[in-house]
Amino acid sequence: MAAATSQSSIGRTMSKEDIGLKTEKLTHFHFFIHVIISGPNIDDVIVVLPPPTSTTPAANAFFGRVDVLDTPLTIGPNISSDRIGSMQGVVAGTSPVEELAYFMEVTFVFTEGKYNGSTLVILGRNQATMKVRELPIVGGTGIFRFARGYALTRTYSPFDPKTGTAIHEYNLFITN
Ligand SMILES: *[C@@H]1O[C@H](CO)[C@@H](O)[C@H](O)[C@H]1NC(C)=O
Ligand SMILES: *[C@@H]1O[C@H](CO)[C@@H](O)[C@H](O)[C@H]1NC(C)=O
Repeated sequence: MAAATSQSSIGRTMSKEDIGLKTEKLTHFHFFIHVIISGPNIDDVIVVLPPPTSTTPAANAFFGRVDVLDTPLTIGPNISSDRIGSMQGVVAGTSPVEELAYFMEVTFVFTEGKYNGSTLVILGRNQATMKVRELPIVGGTGIFRFARGYALTRTYSPFDPKTGTAIHEYNLFITN
């Protein structure tokens, strides 16, 4: 056994410059995601379906449902426009009342330019009935170490049964 560990050996004060962090900056991203639940290019799978109930409002079809997704991030609303990364994570229906809300734990994985390999994490509540939803950005990796901020998202094109796709627009504001 090693000798008793002294307090000073388990933590030490550093300056941000020691790990290459200089002045804080604000970054804005604007992109679209494509949630596809049917057809040949499914990127959102339902992993848990809620038990059927007869007494709850229609929106509650989503209460208790858990989806895992990995959807492309594109610079325009057309899925053929330039791709800058993916959104990967878990979305769960969390509202037992008519307002239709989700818990989201998703990671934006960027694949372009200086952002390639860096990630940002969203953790929070998405109330789907609001026109613009705000979600907290709680952290990141790579170029986004120590990131914090918020995302504003709105439905660009609602679920279309013909294509199995819904398109959502995201604006991210991140400081680190
Ligand atoms: C999306 O882009 C493709 C390829 O450029 C084009 O053929 C298609 O019409 C576009 N779709 C829409 C909805 O604009
Ligand atoms: C992103 O990084 C990966 C891994 O280092 C590399 O294979 C890929 O070519 C890079 N993509 C771009 C667009 O730079």
